[in-house]
Amino acid sequence: MQIDFTTERGALDVHTAVAFIVFEDDLQAGMKGADAVSGGAASRALGSSRFKGGKRQTLDLQGVGEAGRLLLAGAGPKDGASPTDIEQAAASAYGVLKASGVATLVFDLSVLSPEQAAAAAFGVQLGSYRFDRYRTTEKAEQKPSITSIRIATPQADQARAAFAPLAALAEGVRFTQDLVSEPANVLYPEEFARRVKSLESMGLQVEVLGEADMARLGMGSLLCVGLGSRRESQLAVIQWKGAQDPDAQPIAFVGKGVCFDTGGISIKGADGMEDMKWDMGGAGAVAGLMHALAGRKAKVNAIGILGLVENMPDGNATRPGDVVTSMSGQTIEVINTDAEGRLVLADALWYCQDRFKPKFMVDLATLTGAIIVSLGHDYAGLFSNDDALSDSLLAASKVSGELLWRMPLHGGYDKQIESMIADVKNIGGRPAGSITAALFLQKFVNGLPWAHLDIASVAWKKPSSNPTIPDGASGFGVRLLNQLVADRYED
Ligand code: BES
Ligand code: MN
Ligand code: ZN
Repeated sequence: MQIDFTTERGALDVHTAVAFIVFEDDLQAGMKGADAVSGGAASRALGSSRFKGGKRQTLDLQGVGEAGRLLLAGAGPKDGASPTDIEQAAASAYGVLKASGVATLVFDLSVLSPEQAAAAAFGVQLGSYRFDRYRTTEKAEQKPSITSIRIATPQADQARAAFAPLAALAEGVRFTQDLVSEPANVLYPEEFARRVKSLESMGLQVEVLGEADMARLGMGSLLCVGLGSRRESQLAVIQWKGAQDPDAQPIAFVGKGVCFDTGGISIKGADGMEDMKWDMGGAGAVAGLMHALAGRKAKVNAIGILGLVENMPDGNATRPGDVVTSMSGQTIEVINTDAEGRLVLADALWYCQDRFKPKFMVDLATLTGAIIVSLGHDYAGLFSNDDALSDSLLAASKVSGELLWRMPLHGGYDKQIESMIADVKNIGGRPAGSITAALFLQKFVNGLPWAHLDIASVAWKKPSSNPTIPDGASGFGVRLLNQLVADRYED
């Protein structure tokens, strides 16, 4: 998608749509431009419509004035309008028009600030995401028709400058969405690692550990997950050194990257198993976050660790009841091979804190079906041993619009994961399934400030209820954690 910022709206013709973002409590001011283009038709149309400028409301007019289409997009009340309100208004406008036949969408944003104009461009950038790699027979008239966006704003230079870091962020989100959308026959651990390795061209350092390397480190927990797979497990270690002091203590992000989760010997039912291609959404988000940090040259030292495996049943697979020894030295009784994400993270978290001694670790994982039962599909679960880190995440959540709800990490549940023969077992039964999963992870954190985001509820949206997130891979976590870094951890 081509996005340009201009001071003039430019010529309008039948292949062009013009959109105005308006506020419900300042509708008259917002309508001025629309009436000028349409000879007053926009205001007349309000009389026969329910459009009031509310959030995500749109009004689509055809055949008025010179433009092929004229669209009003509501952003709610003007005072306190957040960037996400503007993003969603712009993305809604794009959504209405994307397949209309119009080629160019011009946003006339003369009543918005440069920052708001940048937010509008960001919203369209996000909303126009589409994974169409494997469509070969789609007819031209089914494809989105809009190929270019023009943002007309009096302070085009400021808006363009404000958009630069957002464009880098959108590219990070897109990188995550592409990874999450790929089927597991294409995106297996080595291919995932290769795609991450290619980010070295952005200035990231990437190391990839194979099974022999991980065996030498004693990662019996992570490695037991991939024993049934024909694909080799990988650990990708990504470093971004953007702080003034390249040796300053980093912050760290760890992702569950189960490229496909059949459940292993504790095999899942067939219904919906295809969803388990996106069981690498945590690792995908960490990769996209590192992409975004490098893309906007964030002034921070950050580590990204991805535990990449495939969980398959096979004669060599881990059996229920097997005991494995993790890198931490703690032994784990694997009661259920479908509780594999925590086995991957146990070694990835330990390795991260042991090697990098970061200020904090945040892990992201599509860890439990139980978090969907708890929170539905709007919120991800937040678990943390540190109130300050937790509060920072909740603040970043509000700004970015990627919602978190803090869940208890209460030691009382620990007895559910006591094993009869090992240090811990990998499931705690049905009650509080997301909490016992988080408590399991905590045993591999070694006292560092840490937060666990269970994103099984939000990594994949079908249907999506947010115009900036198309159906499918949401890229959840990239905007949230980029916001956390920008707010609290840059030089
Ligand atoms: N990847 C799943 C969790 C999941 C479920 C993610 C649905 C997205 C949508 C995870 O590995 C898993 O299988 N968890 C089990 C744990 C159980 C065996 C304790 C679950 O949630 O059922
Ligand atoms: Mn599983
Ligand atoms: Zn899983």
